[in-house]
Amino acid sequence: MTTEGHESRRIAFMNQKGGVGKTTTTVNLAAAAAARGIATLLVDLDPQAHASLHLGVDPSERMDDASVYDVLLDPTDHEHAPIHEAIVPVGENLWCLPSETDLAAAEFELGDQPDRHTRLRAALATQGGRFGAVFIDCPPSLGLLTLNGLAAAGEVVIPMQAHFLALQGVGKLLETIRLLTAGEHAINPNLTVTGVVLCMHDHQAAHTREVVDDLESFFAEAAELPGLPWSSARVLSPAIRRNIKLAECPSFGQTIFQYAPDANGALDYAALAETVFGGAGPEVVDREAGEPIPEVHVVVTHNTGVAGDAGV
Ligand SMILES: Nc1ncnc2c1ncn2[C@@H]1O[C@H](COP(=O)(O)OP(=O)(O)OP(=O)(O)O)[C@@H](O)[C@H]1O
Ligand SMILES: [Mg+2]
Repeated sequence: MTTEGHESRRIAFMNQKGGVGKTTTTVNLAAAAAARGIATLLVDLDPQAHASLHLGVDPSERMDDASVYDVLLDPTDHEHAPIHEAIVPVGENLWCLPSETDLAAAEFELGDQPDRHTRLRAALATQGGRFGAVFIDCPPSLGLLTLNGLAAAGEVVIPMQAHFLALQGVGKLLETIRLLTAGEHAINPNLTVTGVVLCMHDHQAAHTREVVDDLESFFAEAAELPGLPWSSARVLSPAIRRNIKLAECPSFGQTIFQYAPDANGALDYAALAETVFGGAGPEVVDREAGEPIPEVHVVVTHNTGVAGDAGV
């Protein structure tokens, strides 16, 4: 299935803060993975449908077609399995499970059904080994859609901007992941955090360096506490520089590799794909459901707002 012989990777791109670079990273890293010969599926879990549009799939032109909404709401229709119908090819080695605006209602419509968190995981399981990588673009919230993404994923990548206040949400985000992995009824006990991608990055700014230093020391402390979902997390290299071409290409329904293959944005995402896919991959945590995981305490520091204790 893949030319590089990797096990299937299922990565949720998640940050409840809006506009930090989740969709840009999911789409362009997926395109970079596809270019490396990996059969890649992008799942758009955001009712805004930005990732679908970025890949040239316009939900307003396919009102009668199945989308991720049908996959989440109609999982028992095996004969016309919505996921088979909904997945559309968008390039060589690249497929999209598109969103639609109705998806916003899914949070309510799924109600309190016992399997409401694991609908996407169950649907993806029907795809067997078809995809070498599944990239999930989460909406900017910690609601049921994001939880479906986290339940279906093996790992989490956190796109963020290195601003003083941007780190404040990271503690909440890690606490959410901890809750999903801990306890007897853990939804996804083996979920790990692969790391942070710094987006719209300005290498020159002094405060940027301070934020990155705080993040790196936070993850260094976590490395001393094996068993945390983020024990092997790191600041992934390279940071993605601010590049106007990355902001332009979604309106053309093109990835950066189609729109401006020589731009810094293309170089950065190709290099990031080398980091994510070129090495041995993330350390696999084999944690039993029910095994206790330390609480997250995120310490407010004088400058960035967040850093410190990695989890005691
Ligand atoms: N490296 C970059 N350089 C310049 N512009 C960028 C870069 N990365 C993202 N952008 C732009 O910043 C805006 C927000 O990015 P994006 O949509 O990827 O964030 P998001 O976290 O997915 O947002 P949301 O929370 O709304 O889903 C978009 O207009 C995007 O084109
Ligand atoms: Mg987005």
